[in-house]
Amino acid sequence: MRNQPHKRVLITGGAGFLGSHLCQRLLGDRHDVLCVDNFYTGTKDNIAELLKDPRFELLRHDVTFPLYVEVDEIYNLACPASPIYYQFDPIQTTKTSVHGAINLLGLAKRVKARILQASTSEVYGDPEMHPQRESYWGHVNPIGDRSCYDEGKRCAETLFFDYYRQHRLEIKVARIFNTYGPRMGIGDGRVVSNFIVQALRGDPITIYGDGSQTRSFCYVDDLVAALVLLMGTPADVVGPMNLGNQGEVTVKRLAEMVISLTKSKSKLTYRNLPNDDPTRRCPDISLARERLGWTPNVPLEEGLQRTIEYFRAIAETRPSVEVHGDAR
Ligand SMILES: NC(=O)c1ccc[n+]([C@@H]2O[C@H](COP(=O)([O-])OP(=O)(O)OC[C@H]3O[C@@H](n4cnc5c(N)ncnc54)[C@H](O)[C@@H]3O)[C@@H](O)[C@H]2O)c1
Repeated sequence: MRNQPHKRVLITGGAGFLGSHLCQRLLGDRHDVLCVDNFYTGTKDNIAELLKDPRFELLRHDVTFPLYVEVDEIYNLACPASPIYYQFDPIQTTKTSVHGAINLLGLAKRVKARILQASTSEVYGDPEMHPQRESYWGHVNPIGDRSCYDEGKRCAETLFFDYYRQHRLEIKVARIFNTYGPRMGIGDGRVVSNFIVQALRGDPITIYGDGSQTRSFCYVDDLVAALVLLMGTPADVVGPMNLGNQGEVTVKRLAEMVISLTKSKSKLTYRNLPNDDPTRRCPDISLARERLGWTPNVPLEEGLQRTIEYFRAIAETRPSVEVHGDAR
């Protein structure tokens, strides 16, 4: 099946931010897309347009339970990605990563599908090495508030590599760094969405710490392109592979850019840093450059502008959504 251009693709977490863009991209490539989601953080609004396409199917399902479907490729994105949501029910977060990985790897084994895991830069924890290379094992707190996410994703990676070694499964592990764009959750506390919503409302922009911590932000279209390229690589390319944008920006500078692009009158306000907040986050993407021939090409200013347009439209329809704090 794999050599045929038309594939049946399963995307777990397909109604979420990244998942909905990936569904859209694969439908555009004329594949059949099965979106599986329990709508924990994803929304029907994110995929409303896609429902019109006969190649698109939606299944409400929790990946912590087994799933029996016939597919050629699986992108496993199901997992809340924002600290507010993954810390709300940390046990469920670990289950989603670990039981979810077991169930989907079992499915991939049964139907001989290729499977890609959406892992995260958080597997590096608060890194002592910059930029982070894939060979770095990380500096992770196993018992903190964020551990359900970080350790859940680490365990999922372990499972992927054990299925690869033990059952010769065709795996791909992507370590995704901060990604932003339209359809990020409006009140989910991620730094880009927070700043944009606060700026559009003219509210103070909340910076945690002194704002000198850096982040690197990848626009969603660039990231989705990389995921599709990684899925299409030869079987010996398994990862883990860092995917992200290397352009580092301080959180304070980001806030200033958002204020300028939205022409907002918002002022900056400072609060204490949350626990285990990494001071610096920057990928080394040499491996992705070499194996995928990929580099992100949407400049931060342009990506922010497109994201602002999306939030402007949303803010008009949902003015009362609370903005939560986080610095990631
Ligand atoms: N956005 C980023 O910057 C980023 C960075 C690193 C890694 N990732 C990873 O990429 C994936 C997608 O992230 P996102 O930003 O789109 O987050 P998101 O919260 O928007 O999407 C996650 C999706 O998974 C669904 N989901 C959660 N638990 C589920 C379960 N038990 N069963 C079925 N569906 C479930 C949610 O409803 C949602 O639609 C996640 O695995 C995340 O860890 C994202």
